Amino acid sequence: MIREVLKMGDPRLLQQAQPLQQFDTPELHALLADLRDTMAHLNGAGLAAPQIGVGLQVVIFGVEQNPRYPQVEDIPDTVLINPVLTPLSDELEEDWEGCLSLPGLRGMVPRHARLRYQGFDEKGNPIDRSVDGFHARVVQHECDHLLGILYPMRIRDFSKFGFIQALFPGEDVIDE
Ligand code: NI
Repeated sequence: MIREVLKMGDPRLLQQAQPLQQFDTPELHALLADLRDTMAHLNGAGLAAPQIGVGLQVVIFGVEQNPRYPQVEDIPDTVLINPVLTPLSDELEEDWEGCLSLPGLRGMVPRHARLRYQGFDEKGNPIDRSVDGFHARVVQHECDHLLGILYPMRIRDFSKFGFIQALFPGEDVIDE
């Protein structure tokens, strides 16, 4: 079911999400179905449970190769639960980000260039990946939602924050 995505300003987006206790339950599968439906409906690259008002440490993300966005690399469809992120270098990279909780906006956000993420899928199988680039950015963005952090809180240069239509006139830009 397509759910309403909470917008920045809603206090539920600022709360710490709780660890999931039980895997492979009907409740979890229903939550994941709603996250997938909602993300697909809005053409997002990722979505975190708190964005639909569920305060659990559950995120989904994934980007298929899309000829409309040749600059964006493939990211496998992933369910990531109770994540732990470990930066693999001090290097930070700045790039544009958007968020379904801030429709129509983009900001230039510093993120760790490389990181390891660990957690579990919906069955409780462990996930352990080391990634860089856009994949690393998406993971950091989604897991920030579990800490109550929205990307504007990480922006350093507010001259690079604004409305997509004004920042990129005539361009078609992917949401995340
Ligand atoms: Ni977001």
